[in-house]
Amino acid sequence: MRSKLPGAPTSIFAVMSALAREHNAINLSQGFPDFDLAPGLIELMDQNMRAGNNQYAPMPGLPQLREEISKKIQRDYGRYYNPDTEINITAGATQALFTAFNALVFPGDEVIIIEPAYDSYYPSVVLNGGVPVPVPIDDNFRFDWDRIKDAVTPRTSMIVLNSPHNPLGSAFHAEDIEALTAIVRDTNITIISDEVYEHIIFDGRQHLSMARCPELAERSLVISSFGKTFHATGWKVGYVAAPAKYIAEFRKIHQFTVFAVNTPAQASYAEFLKDPEHYLHLSEFYQKKRDYLNGFFAGTNLKFTPAEGTYFQIFDYSAYSNDDDFTFSKRLTAEAGTAVIPLSPFYSGEYSGKKIRVCFAKKDEVIKEGAERMLAFLQKL
Ligand SMILES: Cc1ncc(COP(=O)(O)O)c(C=O)c1O
Repeated sequence: MRSKLPGAPTSIFAVMSALAREHNAINLSQGFPDFDLAPGLIELMDQNMRAGNNQYAPMPGLPQLREEISKKIQRDYGRYYNPDTEINITAGATQALFTAFNALVFPGDEVIIIEPAYDSYYPSVVLNGGVPVPVPIDDNFRFDWDRIKDAVTPRTSMIVLNSPHNPLGSAFHAEDIEALTAIVRDTNITIISDEVYEHIIFDGRQHLSMARCPELAERSLVISSFGKTFHATGWKVGYVAAPAKYIAEFRKIHQFTVFAVNTPAQASYAEFLKDPEHYLHLSEFYQKKRDYLNGFFAGTNLKFTPAEGTYFQIFDYSAYSNDDDFTFSKRLTAEAGTAVIPLSPFYSGEYSGKKIRVCFAKKDEVIKEGAERMLAFLQKL
């Protein structure tokens, strides 16, 4: 059988979650919250379905939701996006990313992907005829702008960025924005900015959205997802905001692949978004969970720098084991009973680091049980 993605493995999230089930392990691997949605959001969904909001939505998304997203971005980041021409609703961020590549990458275009990277970027670029150009993040989880600059060629059509970053939990600092601006100035490079963790950022940091920087916003597609913000990853509703010329091309593809996104969910989010209180306390909520998780490992030889954002914490286990990260993660799942994610699947090439990713979007009792099992395992090594 011919394959468009020969050698594409089963997603590591599916692999580790299956292993977690097999071993009855606490699942701190896949990035989804295990707590309930806000009751108000569930009620809105119920009301919308009962009110008959169950047929196709308009292709670009419900006007009232695009309107609320426009207001939200202006409120949070100070840029106005025209809801009619500069915003499109998508079936989650994954579709927004894929459609963006589908619409804007031409055969042979080079697309810079900073690694480790969310696992959909690389195959999405390949499937759309692009040539991924991976550039590693440095050992301190900072973007290596000199290497990124060196990777730019006359064929570079895009840079894919993600802040706050999955899997590293790092976030843009002001100097990152300066360096990025200098690199793309006087080029035709488009920025794909994956900002799904925009509201999960810690220790008083500000999320540096591309929408905050007028010069960068002109060449950026800002992508986000309500799945992360409202504990509703299964609802699969996200959006893209960008200058009209990009959205026009985006819609040409969106209309033939997805056409329209879940109507009652869109109507519910349109109402729910009106009150910023519904998402502005998310950082506090997750910061407590980060600190709770990290507290279990404070006196150990597991090395970590507290995540700056997202609901992921990276731990370096090199003081305990020489196992590669995949073997170590499998052992943690099978022998300790806590499933985590190795970092190697976030790289397109070889990865020899000794790091694992732990998801703390879990109830405190689940974090406690998962962490205690890990501690007991480490003590035996
Ligand atoms: C960095 C990043 N981008 C995109 C997504 C996908 O978002 P969605 O579930 O809305 O498709 C995720 C989900 O884990 C993610 O971590």
